[in-house]
Amino acid sequence: MRKNIVAGNWKMNKNLQEGVALATALNEALKDKKVNCDVIIGTPFIHLASVVNVVDKNKIGVAAQNCADKVSGAYTGEVSAEMVASTGAGYVILGHSERRAYYHETAEILKEKVLLALANGLTPIFCIGEVLAEREANKHFDVVKSQIETSLFDLTAEDFGKIVLAYEPVWAIGTGKTATAAQAQEMHAFIRRTLAAKYGQEVADNTSILYGGSANASNAKELFSNPDVDGGLIGGASLGVDKFMPIIEAF
Ligand code: 13P
Repeated sequence: MRKNIVAGNWKMNKNLQEGVALATALNEALKDKKVNCDVIIGTPFIHLASVVNVVDKNKIGVAAQNCADKVSGAYTGEVSAEMVASTGAGYVILGHSERRAYYHETAEILKEKVLLALANGLTPIFCIGEVLAEREANKHFDVVKSQIETSLFDLTAEDFGKIVLAYEPVWAIGTGKTATAAQAQEMHAFIRRTLAAKYGQEVADNTSILYGGSANASNAKELFSNPDVDGGLIGGASLGVDKFMPIIEAF
């Protein structure tokens, strides 16, 4: 059955020392705790190797926030999936709306990134979600379906089974305006139906679908209590142990 997951996305926050300190503190907070979800932290590239070194890998998974769409070579400034995997990180966040909007990552580019992540043994946490205008035009289901189809539906069922999805309505990210539990459940159930139609009910039932967008200690319990919401991808509230732990403990 699918896993419950609480994943932090630090985005471009924390220098190396601050990041290592946060990971160390989270590791400490989880040390003697039994929690009912997998915990992942998504750090900037340069933090990965150091963070992997200070966390108990049985308690905390480590994710990159991106990887290149090329294997290797003359791509100045890029970081390959193989490099990410070589740090000991096990996950990579792909298709975040900030990457799509600010760095023009297209469905085709993301398709390549997903394949390279999988080829290097990384679990992609693949983000999808509509902007406000699309929701207001009642196009949010079509948009999300198309994001999934165009980047992921060429995968075999076996490979698709390795993907974690994160529904992040863009209008909820960093705005303090969370989707209601009902809006999240409605979309997550739609996503699961979409997966079932393509890969069958078993694959759909085994796929973890996380919610992201202004999730925090006060709304996590309600969001996570929905049958199709399997956890959260947490931005701002993952930047401090005091804010992140209660979300982990919401399960
Ligand atoms: P916030 O939790 O800060 O809204 O960010 C959500 C997000 O984009 C996680 O990837």
